[in-house]
Amino acid sequence: TRVFVSGDMAAVGLGADALADACRAAGAEVVRVSSHGLFAIEPLVEVETPEGRVGYGPVAAGDIAQVIDGTHLNRIGDVAALPFFARQQRFTFARAGKTDPLSLADYAAHDGWKGLEAARAMAPQAVVDAVKASGLRGRGGAGFPTGIKWQTVLEAAAGEKFIVCNADEGDSGTFADRMLMEGDPFCLIEGMAIAGHAVGAGHGYVYIRSEYPFAIRTMEAAIGLAASRIAPFTLEVRVGAGAYVCGEETALLDSIEGKRGQVRAKPPLPAIAGLFGKPTVINNVLSLAAVPFILAEGADRYAEIGFGRSRGTMPIQLAGNVKHGGLFEIGFGITLRELIEDIGGGTASGRPVRAVQVGGPLGAYFPPSMFDLPFDYEAFAEAGGLIGHAGITVFDDSVDMARMARFAMQFCAVESCGKCTPCRIGSTRGVELINRIIAGTGRDAGTLEAMPQMRNARASPRGPAEEIGLLRDLCDTMKYGSLCALGGFTPYPVLSALDHFPEDFSPAPVRAAAE
Ligand code: NAI
Ligand code: SF4
Repeated sequence: TRVFVSGDMAAVGLGADALADACRAAGAEVVRVSSHGLFAIEPLVEVETPEGRVGYGPVAAGDIAQVIDGTHLNRIGDVAALPFFARQQRFTFARAGKTDPLSLADYAAHDGWKGLEAARAMAPQAVVDAVKASGLRGRGGAGFPTGIKWQTVLEAAAGEKFIVCNADEGDSGTFADRMLMEGDPFCLIEGMAIAGHAVGAGHGYVYIRSEYPFAIRTMEAAIGLAASRIAPFTLEVRVGAGAYVCGEETALLDSIEGKRGQVRAKPPLPAIAGLFGKPTVINNVLSLAAVPFILAEGADRYAEIGFGRSRGTMPIQLAGNVKHGGLFEIGFGITLRELIEDIGGGTASGRPVRAVQVGGPLGAYFPPSMFDLPFDYEAFAEAGGLIGHAGITVFDDSVDMARMARFAMQFCAVESCGKCTPCRIGSTRGVELINRIIAGTGRDAGTLEAMPQMRNARASPRGPAEEIGLLRDLCDTMKYGSLCALGGFTPYPVLSALDHFPEDFSPAPVRAAAE
């Protein structure tokens, strides 16, 4: 019997290695594949049958005999037919769960290299035009049109240009970059080779965070295997050292150059003077991995899906306190309510949803009254938030939003690169300020393990309204005075918590009345 078990880090974390060993011990031939992306069914084992793969999950290693004889109670059957998958539009993650990540034969048999072949038959400008026509926007968070970025690099006159992939996926609740690199590395390699052809760059770097050892290993192996396929274009992996700010594009470039990762002032844009001062395309994993589909299937096929100016699909990541966490790729326009209630199935704890944070630690918190918001760059910006890298973290009604606001400030203080004052000093003052606000509510401020020096939770010398005014003022300074998104976007979680959950910042009697 041939069986398929995922080698994805999340699946392994849930017991996929032990399951694979048990399958081998039971006499099965085991193929390690990528993950379909629904954690509730991992570790999953799919058994090859004449009618196709039959899935069982989750399966404990000790229960493998029931899988082999077909009596296991967690029989799923055709995994793709599960409602979680049936609703998806998988353009970028079309191969998820199906292929062996490092099998060139598998990749070629599942439409691999078609995009690169099409691109290399076209003039560079025609490739850039196709990416522009697809409407693809930067999936790292800022949503800048990818085709326009490529155009700038194509037009920059230089003897040497670079393609850099930002795989420093640092947002809380995000894992799409990791899944793509671990599960379909040739797709990213193909996207980077297409970018190289489009702008005239001969070499590329994949900058991966050190917390992703599987992705680093898989990408390095895949680059070796694909070398002759992408030649003369060449690629190498660079590993970060754990700084969140190195996900900011200019700090990332400094880090590759061997310097301490610190944000550079823009201009010049990396597109004009980027890595080693040369014109550089720097794109997120998901932006580059969307490109092979666009070239293989046509820009129109990509652009016909979506909402407003947000075209194509977004691999949305459902995380936190949610029943069906995982990767959900769909065209823009789906509402938060559909995502959290229908697809996510509500909270894992079974308690009511109180808030969701969209876009990582710098994203806004939304209450259920705003769940009709469509997933779209502009709609989220209008609502005082951002879709960012499309990570959604769900919280139930036990969450304390004042503490979450403080966490945002604390995160900024810990991760600040220190270059500019509003972020470096403002975030520390922000933690102290929110500590005083919490102390004023009569609640326990809790501990701040990462920064014990900030445990300053004395009762406020000012009135609560005055403290909150001061906090808003500080947010304003950080938003408009910071050099990069770390300091500049920290106000999003803080202000959204203040605006949508004011009762958590008020003294106990006000809270009691609100409840
Ligand atoms: P930005 O708006 O300054 O730039 C976006 C991109 O467009 C950059 O690559 C920039 O170089 C490029 N660009 C701008 N104008 C251009 C032009 N005329 N020609 C060519 N290229 C041009 O945004 P930034 O600061 O790079 O990113 C902020 C975003 O990062 C936020 O929206 C946030 O959501 C996201 N973010 C993502 C994280 C993650 O883990 N993926 C973590 C933290 C923030
Ligand atoms: Fe550095 Fe913070 Fe300023 Fe960004 S906002 S440049 S992380 S100090």
